[in-house]
Amino acid sequence: MTTPHDLDLQEAARRHLWLHFTRMSSYANGEVPVIVRGSGQYVYDQHGKRYLDGLAGLFVSQIGHGRKEVAEAGAQQASELAYFPLWSYAHPRAIELAERLATLAPGDLNRVFFTTSGSEAVESAWKLAKQYFKAIGEPGRYKVLSRDIAYHGTSMGALAITGLPSIKEPFEPLPPGGVRVPNTNFYRAPGFVADDLEGFGRWAADEIERAILREGPESVAAVFLEPVQNSGGCFPPPPGYFARVREICDRYGVILVSDEVICAFGRLGYYFGSERYHYQPDIITFAKGATSGYSPLGGMLVSDRLMEPFSTGAATFLHGVTFAGHPVSSAVALANLDVFEQEDLLGNVRANEATFRATLEKLHDLPIVGDVRGDGYFYGIEMVKDKATRETFSDDESERLLRGFLSQALFDAGLICRADDRGDPVIQLAPPLTCGPEHFTEMEQILRSVLTEAWSRI
Ligand SMILES: Cc1ncc(COP(=O)(O)O)c(C=O)c1O
Repeated sequence: MTTPHDLDLQEAARRHLWLHFTRMSSYANGEVPVIVRGSGQYVYDQHGKRYLDGLAGLFVSQIGHGRKEVAEAGAQQASELAYFPLWSYAHPRAIELAERLATLAPGDLNRVFFTTSGSEAVESAWKLAKQYFKAIGEPGRYKVLSRDIAYHGTSMGALAITGLPSIKEPFEPLPPGGVRVPNTNFYRAPGFVADDLEGFGRWAADEIERAILREGPESVAAVFLEPVQNSGGCFPPPPGYFARVREICDRYGVILVSDEVICAFGRLGYYFGSERYHYQPDIITFAKGATSGYSPLGGMLVSDRLMEPFSTGAATFLHGVTFAGHPVSSAVALANLDVFEQEDLLGNVRANEATFRATLEKLHDLPIVGDVRGDGYFYGIEMVKDKATRETFSDDESERLLRGFLSQALFDAGLICRADDRGDPVIQLAPPLTCGPEHFTEMEQILRSVLTEAWSRI
């Protein structure tokens, strides 16, 4: 596909395109970044300038860009059967993909309900939890626990689960039942556990129990947790955290949903993040890396136990979306998984993740770098005003630092990553799983020069 000669992309973008979570006014006099193609770990803008894709687009492009075999699998499927719904019918690619995902997923997560996005997956999981409890005679259970600052999507239900007050406020009132618990940001742990990672993890898990008891266990349906929380800048779970959460959920009959929209499909070196941290969810939600973005697809993997009430008689999960499990997306997801196997991408992440960490940790010598945290190919770098006291930036400083300088400077220097202040200011990195040491070095060098410049401007 080429752009018609007479269309000025900049002018048309400014006039007609609405960018997501974007201050459109910031492009009134500036250039809209227009990315036109990708190849491997790099993307190119309309002027031909190259960028290292340090965020895999938006935690999506696991296998990298420009894979002809995956694109061709989609094209082949479109010419064979472009569309048919999963409402009452099935089609071969959705069946094959459901079987393959069930085989890869931990434990008895044997049933796949497809969606087209992560928000829809999260929405579906909450709806399933509510209908499941009505079906088994516990109709009072509808509440959902999730963690401070966690992002679980933007549709109304998913937004009620999301723990970011600033993006919820314009849409209040949201569906009732969202309850917050602490996240696992050890860098900002409360004083009494500040030097005790396991103690911090026990405390954070026990806060889930306290919340269940406070709300009344008979009213709580589910707990939604990411294996590594993205928003806030990559909070891995402390040792023992998930084992304790699993025990608590079992004690009170609460469904444990592992929201793996980011953490599944190799981001942490495993097909599913819950495998890495050895816990068994009742539901896994996924999207993004399932197709590496060659076509949209999301879904949830559901345990036999939760499926059981829907297996007999007139019982029906009263939920669906037109494009869920789209044949093209399903074919693309299968081809994506073929690449994972042929190129041992999980093995690549596991073999290189220590080097990735060590390369990013070199940045600790900069005065602005407070914390480097994450696992696998998923890292956050927290910036601070004072390393010794861990003092963070004021809202005004953060605004000037992130929006006024860093985001643009990193982009100008040729690195796609994310400078984010939905918590304390962080830079996030989640590159394609095909990356190796040379890409880590490139990221570190760009970050070093831009962060040095940022410090000199404070
Ligand atoms: C953990 C998590 N859940 C849900 C979502 C929502 O996914 P989507 O943007 O595909 O609706 C995201 C998106 O980043 C996410 O990170």
